[in-house]
Amino acid sequence: MSPHPASTVVPVGLGERAYEVRIGPGLIDRAGEHLAPFFKRRRTAVVVDQTVADHHGERLAVALEKGGLAVDMLVIPPGEERKSFEGLADLSDRLLGLGLDRGDLIVAFGGGVVGDLAGFAASIYKRGIGFIQIPTTLLAQVDSSVGGKTAIDTPRGKNLIGAFHQPRLVLADLDVLATLPDREMRCGYAETLKYGLLGDFAFFEWLETAGPAVLAQEPQALLKAVSRSVEMKAEIVAEDETEQGRRALLNLGHTFGHAVEAELGFGDGLKHGEAVGLGMAQAFRFSAAMGYCQQQDAVRAEAAIAAARLPTRLSDISALPFNADRLIAHMGQDKKAEGGALTFILARAIGDAFVAKGVDPAAIRDFLLCEGATA
Ligand code: NAD
Ligand code: GLY
Repeated sequence: MSPHPASTVVPVGLGERAYEVRIGPGLIDRAGEHLAPFFKRRRTAVVVDQTVADHHGERLAVALEKGGLAVDMLVIPPGEERKSFEGLADLSDRLLGLGLDRGDLIVAFGGGVVGDLAGFAASIYKRGIGFIQIPTTLLAQVDSSVGGKTAIDTPRGKNLIGAFHQPRLVLADLDVLATLPDREMRCGYAETLKYGLLGDFAFFEWLETAGPAVLAQEPQALLKAVSRSVEMKAEIVAEDETEQGRRALLNLGHTFGHAVEAELGFGDGLKHGEAVGLGMAQAFRFSAAMGYCQQQDAVRAEAAIAAARLPTRLSDISALPFNADRLIAHMGQDKKAEGGALTFILARAIGDAFVAKGVDPAAIRDFLLCEGATA
C-alpha cells in the first residue's frame, strides 16, 4: 500500500516477528485496507474502552467492514483497574464466547490500558493468537503499542504479570488524538521527551522549540514527534527485545516516578506520564548530584519538562509529604531491581543515558531528603 504523503512507516526489525508501525492522519478510515491482508478468516474482535468506542468505534467498525472483515466490538470500562486478573478473565471469556481461533487476530483499539490488556490476553488465548495495535493516546502511539510488552497489574504492583508478545501491525492514526484530553496529551508528551533525553540531543533541542506545536497537534510537528519516538523505540527493541540490556534505557525516570505513583496508590491524582516527567527531572538532578552530568543539563531537562506543565518536583504534587524510606522501599519493588540492589537510568548528558546498577540506597536517601522528602 502506498503511504499517504503525510505518513511514515517505521519498521520494527525483529526477524520473523518483524512488523510495521504506520503513522499518519486518516488511517482509521482506511483501516480495512491496512488490516485485511493480515487476516486468514475475515473476522476479528476489537477490544476498546467505552470512551474510545464512543468517540471513534463506529468509524473503525465501518472501515473494517468496508475491508471485508466481520467485526465484534468488545467494549470494556475505561481505566487502569481493567488491567487486572478480573479484567483479563472477563475479556478471555468474551473472546472464547466468540469462538476465535488461533488463525484469527484481535485488534487492540485504545490507549495503553487496552493495548496491554488485549495484548496479554492475545498472548495466552489458546496458547497465543496474533493481535494488531491501533493506539489512540499519544502515550500509546509513541511507547506502549510498540515493542510487545503486555501485562496486567496485581495488588503487589503494576505490570507484574505479563508477556512479551509483539503485534503484527501498529496503526497510529494522528487524527484520533483530536479528542484526547489535554492532560493525556501532556502525559504522552513526557514519553516523547524521554526519547530526546535518553538518546537524541537534536530531537530534544527540536522539542524545546516545537513542543507547543506538538501539544497543539500541529500536523507536521505531531508527525515528526511520533515518528522520531517510534524510530528510536523500534531501534532499541530490535536490538534488545526482552530487555537484557539497552531496552532498560526506555525506563528513564521510571524508578523515581513509579515510587511516587506507588505511594499514591496509582490513582488519578498522578498519572503515569506525569510521574515519568517528575522521575526524569529527578534522574537528571540525581545524575548531576553524583557528578555524572553537568548541573546545566539537569536545569535544561527540568525546564523542558516543566514547559509542558508536567511536575518536576515532589512539591508540585500537593498530596502528601513523601517519606524517603517509603519511596526507597517502593524502588526495591521495581522490576529492574536485582537481589535488592537498585537500578536507575541516569545520564551523562542530555541525549546520553546509561543503566546504573547497584546504586547505593544511602545516596538515594540523601538525594530524596534534599528534594524535600521527610526522614
Ligand atoms: P489509558 O489507556 O488509560 O488512556 C487514558 C484515557 O484516555 C482513558 O480514559 C481512555 O479512555 C482515554 N482515551 C484514549 N484514547 C482517547 C482518544 N483518542 N480520545 C479521547 N479519550 C481517549 O492510558 P495511557 O496513558 O494510554 O496508557 C497507560 C497504560 O499504558 C498504563 O497501564 C501503563 O502501564 C501502560 N504502558 C505500557 C507500556 C508498554 O510498553 N506496554 C509503556 C508505557 C505505558
Ligand atoms: N516502555 C518501556 C519499554 O517498552 O520497554
